[in-house]
Amino acid sequence: MKQKTTFLCSECGYESAKWYGKCPSCGAWNTMEEFKEAKDTHPRGTLARQERRTKNKPLEISAIRTTEELRFHTGISELDRVLGGGAVRGSFVLVGGEPGIGKSTLLLQMCQEMCRQAKVLYVSGEESLRQIRLRADRLHISSPALFVLAETDLEEIIEETGLLQPDVLIVDSIQTIYKSDLTSAPGNTTQIKECAMTLMQYAKRHNVTIFIVGHVNKEGTLAGPKILEHMVDCVLYFEGERQVSFRCLRAAKNRFGSTNEIGVFEMSDCGLIEVPNPSAAMLSGHPMDASGNCIACTMEGSRPILAEIQALVTKTAYGTPRRMAAGIDYNRMVLLLAILEKRVGLYLSSSDTYVNVIGGMRLDEPAIDLPIALAVASSYRDQPLPEGVMAFGEVGLTGELRAVTAASQRIQEAIRLGFSTCIMPKQDIGRIKIPDTFRVIQVNNIAQAIGAAFGVKQ
Ligand code: TYD
Ligand code: MG
Repeated sequence: MKQKTTFLCSECGYESAKWYGKCPSCGAWNTMEEFKEAKDTHPRGTLARQERRTKNKPLEISAIRTTEELRFHTGISELDRVLGGGAVRGSFVLVGGEPGIGKSTLLLQMCQEMCRQAKVLYVSGEESLRQIRLRADRLHISSPALFVLAETDLEEIIEETGLLQPDVLIVDSIQTIYKSDLTSAPGNTTQIKECAMTLMQYAKRHNVTIFIVGHVNKEGTLAGPKILEHMVDCVLYFEGERQVSFRCLRAAKNRFGSTNEIGVFEMSDCGLIEVPNPSAAMLSGHPMDASGNCIACTMEGSRPILAEIQALVTKTAYGTPRRMAAGIDYNRMVLLLAILEKRVGLYLSSSDTYVNVIGGMRLDEPAIDLPIALAVASSYRDQPLPEGVMAFGEVGLTGELRAVTAASQRIQEAIRLGFSTCIMPKQDIGRIKIPDTFRVIQVNNIAQAIGAAFGVKQ
């Protein structure tokens, strides 16, 4: 049988029979890599097919017996929340993130509590046993039920796992392990796909929960974990700026829970610390009377989080004005600047505009439109917003303010953190108790919002 050759994009996983210089799906250059399907180990290979014929038969759905979904608690409530209430037995979880962001630290910390409920094997292809021990000591992990293995050959890993029979297997990282029957180097698209496929089959067959670590590299030199997304049950991304200590854990896919939840951590010198109250942490150091900032309230899953948005509007020194957005969508910002120019008369086309979200957070929700616009207006006028003001609302192209979801929760969070005024669209806020000291200002459009915020008539 001739071995089939296809080409896979290492960024997005696009598959094609032809090689392209530029991926037709994601537009990345030089990311198409040759992918050779291994003969026997592939699920479509003869071995796997014979095995399946004897084992799998169609069944009526009602005849399938289920036991209660068993979950291991990780002992880290922020992680449990993102997983949808703990790691499901037999699930296959991918933890992705840039190198050095804290993936190994998170998974090692998770072992501490998991070891009490299950047998855990931590396989590292990156660090020696001594290094793992030193890190564990620093994280105060001292569980006798945690087994560690420094190995990169997948067959060896599978063999040792078979002997030890752990309930949870952690493989750190997928880019360092390899299958010896493939000719390509570890970290190559073919290796990553084949190794992950083998591990996935192992997880399902032996009911072992497997966590794999995948490094995301912007330069594309290591095949990105994107190509694995379709075969795993959960994809968690660990994000954050390396210079800022806050880290955000997000579920990009979850077969056992919502993908809206996030977990917030802070990196300290003895590991990751959970941040149960992200709003307060995000707002610490918030300058009281400086122009160009506005507090936004964004929903991350079921959780409202207050975040500070800063804007700087300066006179442009060159012909074309510069725009820069960090933590928000660039195109959304440009759109809002155009709306402010056309509907409110702020002359921004000859100004450089920079917008930044403090704390390294990334916000992508329509409700942050209004706070961005207010921060820009504040910097443009060089007038700070009054103390205790926060805002949320979607801005339409005609400058109208549109209703957003979970308004009452956002208001409650603002009240809880001691804010005094909320500027928001005209919409129903349900029956919530608003104290006398708190003012809810509902406005129709962006001009009215600016008028309310700065006490001027537009
Ligand atoms: P690590 O978990 O090794 O990252 P990854 O596995 O995602 O590549 O984390 C590495 C970074 O975390 C490193 O730059 C140092 C920092 N760190 C701390 O600040 N405190 C700690 O206790 C630990 C273990 C790491
Ligand atoms: Mg690591």
